[in-house]
Amino acid sequence: MRKKVIAGNWKMNMLPNEAIDFIDQFAPLVKNTENEVILCVPYTDLFYALLHVQGTNIKIGAQNMHWEESGAYTGEVSGKMLKSIGVEYVIIGHSERRQYFAETDETVNKKIKSALSNGLKPIVCVGETLEQREQGITKNIITDQVEKALEEISAESLKDIIIAYEPIWAIGTGKTATKEDANETIKQIREKIAEKYGQNVADGVIIQYGGSVKSSNAKELFEMSDIDGGLVGGASLKPDEFSKIVNYK
Ligand code: PGA
Repeated sequence: MRKKVIAGNWKMNMLPNEAIDFIDQFAPLVKNTENEVILCVPYTDLFYALLHVQGTNIKIGAQNMHWEESGAYTGEVSGKMLKSIGVEYVIIGHSERRQYFAETDETVNKKIKSALSNGLKPIVCVGETLEQREQGITKNIITDQVEKALEEISAESLKDIIIAYEPIWAIGTGKTATKEDANETIKQIREKIAEKYGQNVADGVIIQYGGSVKSSNAKELFEMSDIDGGLVGGASLKPDEFSKIVNYK
């Protein structure tokens, strides 16, 4: 049985004092969950959040990283740097980064390799636009993104990788994919992984759904056969709401 992994993506929100207040309120609400709980916070919150989650079941992730370990890359933060302060997860290839910051399948692949070699667990985002969905090419787009993201990545590494299927048209829009559509696309991702790495690996890989997940729809989504939890943006900013998503059962 795959575990459910529920990750909050705070995006560019929350000052350190707000992060600390959030964790103070949120930690007691999720302390009994069997699900894995991750908060992916802005760089400026990482250190405070890491100190503050000590002794809780909450893990901390970053939202991006550079693929080089160090060097003349003004403004960038490396996987080695994230690891050095105790970060465990890192979101790679979020559609907002692909859309606004020139992230490509190639940079996604480089970042995944660097994350893994630095002992970080990447949460790799893939997703189609509304236009692509309407053209009926979702499967091609998604399996192509998965193929390129995982180029030259070993089967062994798949246990440390989370894939997040996030249809772009569902992010921050209040529109959620139907549970059937989300499950279907996630199954296609799993089939792609089976083709590349074998059924055993595919059966073990965690694949989340993301895009307007909230407490009112988390249960129906997360109970689907292939959806192993969620990557949650807007609804992860309120401790009460996010705890209901984590405790969806
Ligand atoms: P949303 O964002 O839950 O606000 O739609 C999800 C995401 O971008 O990861």
